[in-house]
Amino acid sequence: MKILVINGPNLNMLGIREPDVYGRETLKDIEKKLWKKAQQMEVQISFFQSNSEGEMIDKIHDSYGKMDGIIMNPGAYSHYSIAIRDAIKSVNIKTVEVHISNVFAREEMRANLVTAPASHGVISGFGSYGYLMALDALVNGGK
Ligand code: DQA
Repeated sequence: MKILVINGPNLNMLGIREPDVYGRETLKDIEKKLWKKAQQMEVQISFFQSNSEGEMIDKIHDSYGKMDGIIMNPGAYSHYSIAIRDAIKSVNIKTVEVHISNVFAREEMRANLVTAPASHGVISGFGSYGYLMALDALVNGGK
């Protein structure tokens, strides 16, 4: 099984960015944890981060026929990128959307997730552990 982890805008700043909201771990720290868990689960995992909507869409398209699952934190694009939602719909790859923070407990604008309906499910509010939950969910959860 092959899984791709996509992180969107500003997630390269984890560790520095609003640590009271997102914690002190860097994206590298999170990717290391995911890599370790994937090894234990005998899953092949790869990572991609971009601040650009178009690059994220290209990566999603490129996953067609190559990946069995996607874990994606679209960052702020979650709240307005219909293009990313359409890209996920286009490739028909089981996707779990992850948010480090609980987007429903923050500013009202964050409660609207336009990308989420294209995903199999959403995990929000469990910090970086949400990515590990998503890996578990992709491999073992749902239909
Ligand atoms: C986020 C939540 C978004 O609202 C925000 O724009 C982010 C991070 C999260 O992981 O909690 O960049 O997706």
